[in-house]
Amino acid sequence: MTDQTRSNGGETHQTTDDTEQTMTTAQGAPIADDQNSLKAGPRGPVLLEDHVMREKIFHFDHERIPERVVHARGYGAHGYFEVIDSIPELTAADLFQRKGKKTPVFVRFSTVAGNEGSPDLARDVRGFAVKFYTQQGNWDLVGNNIPVFFIQDAIKFPDLIHAAKPAPDRAFPQAQTAHDNFWDFASLTPESMHMIMWIMSDRAIPRSFRMMEGFGVHTFRLVNADGASTFVKFHWKPKLGMQSVVWNEALKINGADPDFHRRDLWAAIDSGDYPEWELGVQVFDQEFADSFAFDVLDATKLIPEEEVPIRIIGRMVLDNNVDNFFAETEQVAFCTQNIVPGIDFTNDPLLQGRNFSYLDTQTKRLGGPNFTHIPINAPRCPFHHFQQDGHMAMHNPKGRANYEPNSWGEDGGPRENPAQGFRSYPEPMEGNKGRIRPESFADHYSQARQFYISQAPVEQKHMADALTFELSKVGRMDIRERMVGHLRLIDEGLAEAVAEGIGLPEMPDKAEPAKAPVTDLPE
Ligand code: HEM
Repeated sequence: MTDQTRSNGGETHQTTDDTEQTMTTAQGAPIADDQNSLKAGPRGPVLLEDHVMREKIFHFDHERIPERVVHARGYGAHGYFEVIDSIPELTAADLFQRKGKKTPVFVRFSTVAGNEGSPDLARDVRGFAVKFYTQQGNWDLVGNNIPVFFIQDAIKFPDLIHAAKPAPDRAFPQAQTAHDNFWDFASLTPESMHMIMWIMSDRAIPRSFRMMEGFGVHTFRLVNADGASTFVKFHWKPKLGMQSVVWNEALKINGADPDFHRRDLWAAIDSGDYPEWELGVQVFDQEFADSFAFDVLDATKLIPEEEVPIRIIGRMVLDNNVDNFFAETEQVAFCTQNIVPGIDFTNDPLLQGRNFSYLDTQTKRLGGPNFTHIPINAPRCPFHHFQQDGHMAMHNPKGRANYEPNSWGEDGGPRENPAQGFRSYPEPMEGNKGRIRPESFADHYSQARQFYISQAPVEQKHMADALTFELSKVGRMDIRERMVGHLRLIDEGLAEAVAEGIGLPEMPDKAEPAKAPVTDLPE
């Protein structure tokens, strides 16, 4: 029972009668009065000595951590992954070895460009990041709801994001209402055209996180116990099917309930209506990769399902909401470099750059090198290493040795395990060092066209409307014209509809297809 008493000022104090917990400082010292600071006399100055007030305000002052530089707004949930069709012939990864095997997961869905308080129904890519807590360590499949990406090389990522996010001087996008800078960048970056088609499609305004597909985007490698390797693309297929809203609905929902997507996910899980996805793989060998019309290392391209069908190998169910949004959803740290034996990278230059970027940014965002000590990021299998100390270290090596090699035998701590440890696939390498983009990365329009013509007429109209809406907000006419010049290489009908919609007096010239290879090597 709470015993309510009133002080002279009429304020409410709720004091414990010993059936309730006593409020304490973070150091555990009991607090008598949490609402009046310590003063020298009733109207005198507040004393520096007031450790209760200083601790309370100090902690409040430090509540915020930097939001993610991209994907700042997101929502997560716990669940499990279950194998439907085991694939030991393809991979030694423990989580895929046995039908029925379950692995706990944590998933975070996100928008990319908006800040943490931005509305859920923005036209944007959605992040689809899955952390698998496997028996061989954490595997993070850090994907999106769109199977391709804007750029081919990670070195362009800061420019892409600077162009899309608010301008640093005014903290809103440069232009009257939309993204002149984004469209400037896109129109000067033809490799973005395939992704632009997806972003202008209904995929970019999903009805619910529960109704989105997910993609690992890059080509990865699977490696089996004999060391044989195949290439793989990962796909998530929602059990509820894919659904989107239309733009007018998106605008209204954003105004009425900017938390629409996170509320929807939370409410579904809370009511026992657990969202579910199938995990599929497209598996192909070097011979297919060599014969494919595009480079499998180019993240602006996909492998059509007609050419390599998707094999469903498992399902994922999200059955548990977070208890602590900050500790779990905010502090979770997904990273493409978190892989396990049996899965490996390829030379996709976008993936290679990501492998650096996530760990680097998380070291800043989460305050140092020990964020794997936060429970949401910690492995759920045994782990032993000689890393120690640093900010917020929760555990250190214990015992005789904190280095290796050492002479202390069984007391000497963990040892290497050549039989079970991670080994990189020994892919042969050759070539001259250089800032080179190969010819196989040069065609930026064919798959953009294939995507556009694969859409139903009503979906094509939505794309034309979206491009018209966006480009009509761009102040610079030359940027509008340059974009329509690209659209002409994708579909003349689409280009004409947009040109008319944004009031271009005449059709601009077609864009010049890219020249490749791009190289800085001497002729
Ligand atoms: C965050 C996906 C490209 C840098 C994220 C997240 C996802 C994601 C899903 C949110 C993770 C979360 O929920 O916490 C992708 C995909 C990409 C891509 C699918 C392309 C295929 C890149 C590139 C870079 C990059 C090229 C940098 C070179 C980052 C950074 C974060 C992030 C710095 C914030 C991480 C954090 O603070 O924890 N990305 N991304 N991403 N991404 Fe990417």
